[in-house]
Amino acid sequence: MTRIVLFENIHPSAKEVFVASGFDEVVTYPGALTGTELREALRGAHVAGIRSRTQLDQAVFAEAVDLRVVGCFCIGTNQVDLEAAALKGIPVFNAPFSNTRSVAELVLGEAILLLRRIPEKNARVHEGYWDKTADGAYEARGKTLGIVGYGNIGSQVGILAESAGMRVLYHDIEAKLPLGNAHATSSLKKFLAQADVVTLHVPGGKDTANLIDAEAIAAMKPGAILINASRGTVVDIPALHRALKSGHLSGAAIDVFPVEPKSRDEALDSPLRGMQNVILTPHIGGSTQESQENIGREVAEKLKRFITSGTTKGTVNFPEISYHEQAGAARIIHIHQNVPGAMGALSNLMGEYGLNIVSQQLQTRGKIGYAITDVDGDVTDQVIEGLRAHPITIRCNLI
Ligand code: NAI
Repeated sequence: MTRIVLFENIHPSAKEVFVASGFDEVVTYPGALTGTELREALRGAHVAGIRSRTQLDQAVFAEAVDLRVVGCFCIGTNQVDLEAAALKGIPVFNAPFSNTRSVAELVLGEAILLLRRIPEKNARVHEGYWDKTADGAYEARGKTLGIVGYGNIGSQVGILAESAGMRVLYHDIEAKLPLGNAHATSSLKKFLAQADVVTLHVPGGKDTANLIDAEAIAAMKPGAILINASRGTVVDIPALHRALKSGHLSGAAIDVFPVEPKSRDEALDSPLRGMQNVILTPHIGGSTQESQENIGREVAEKLKRFITSGTTKGTVNFPEISYHEQAGAARIIHIHQNVPGAMGALSNLMGEYGLNIVSQQLQTRGKIGYAITDVDGDVTDQVIEGLRAHPITIRCNLI
C-alpha cells in the first residue's frame, strides 16, 4: 500500500490523479506543519506533497525512512534540502510550467491598461473626477514589446502580444528559437531603446540582481512602460521610482518586490505605493484557479509515474530517466552511490539471485547513481533485502 500525504491545501486535482490510478491512501492537511507534527505526519508516508511553506530539511529526511519521493506543488524548491533528499535516494519534482499562461495573460493585460493610462483614470473616477481625455492613451497595436528573458513565460507573452498586433523583440543570454515573428536582439541597451513596453522574465539570483538599474532605465525610450512579474531583485526600485517621478517612464506594473510582506497583515514598504499609472500586485502573476488545478495535476502525474514506473524525467535534484515500457517480469529501481564498479556489483548480485537482466537504464548525477532494471526471474522479498544490504545501495524497491 502506498501512503500519500499532501500538505498545504493542495488542489483536489492532485488527489483525483492518485485515486484514478488506484492509490486510495491519500491523507490531506489544510496547512503546513513543522517540527514533531510534520515528522509524525510523514511517519509511514511514501509520497509527500508540499507547497512553499513546508520545510523539508536533512533532519526531516533522516526520520522519514519510508519516504520515496517529494512533490513541490509550486515552482520554487528552496524549501527543500535537495542535496539531502538526493543522498537519501528521494527525487523531488515541481511544476515549472503550470502557471506560465497565467503570468503571460496578466502581463499582456497590464501592458494594454498602462498604455491607456487606465490605472490612473480608474483612480480618478473613483475619486469623483471625470477627466475624459485621449492624452497619453495609446493602442497596443503597432507598439513594440521588449521581452527580457525569452523562456517559458517570456515566449508565451510574445505570442499573446503578437495576437494583439504588437511587434515583439526579445533579449536572452541564450540563443532561443523565435516564436511567431519575434526578433532577437543581442545588446540589452539597444533593445531597451526600441521598446514601448519592457517586460522582464528572467530568473532571480545574483546574475540578474539589478539587471534593470538606473543606467538601463535611462536607456529606455522616453514614455516607456516597465513590467516586472519575474523576481523582485531584478529591478532597482529607487531608480524606477525616480524615472516614474521625472516622467521618463510613463507607467509600470510590479508584481514582485525585493522584500515582500510575509503575511497579509504586513504592509508593503515601497516608494511606488500611491504613484500614478503604476499597478502593484501581491506576487499573484501565476496565481489563478487554472494554474492551481494544473499544478495539482502536473506534479501528481510526475509522482504517480515515479511510483509506478521509476521515471524521474523533470526531477530537480536526481538523475533523470525517461519513461520506457517494462520489458521483463519485474522492475527493480536501485539508487546507489556513484562509484566505480557500482553497476558491476548490482548486475553480479542480480545474477547470484538467478535474475536475468532484460533491460537496464542508468543515469548518474553528482554522488547518486540511479538504475532501472527490468528482469526475468523470481524477485522475492529476500532478493530486494539482499540488494538493499549491499554497501553501495542507498535505496532499492520493486515497482
Ligand atoms: P525560464 O527559465 O523558462 O526562462 C528564463 C529565461 O531567462 C531563460 O531563457 C534564460 O536564458 C533567460 N535569462 C537568464 N538570465 C538572463 C539575463 N541576464 N538576461 C536575459 N535573459 C536571461 O523561466 P520562466 O518559467 O519563464 O520564469 C521566468 C521568471 O518568472 C522567473 O523569475 C520566475 O521565478 C518568475 N515567475 C513569477 C511568477 C509570479 O507569480 N509573478 C510565477 C511564475 C514564474
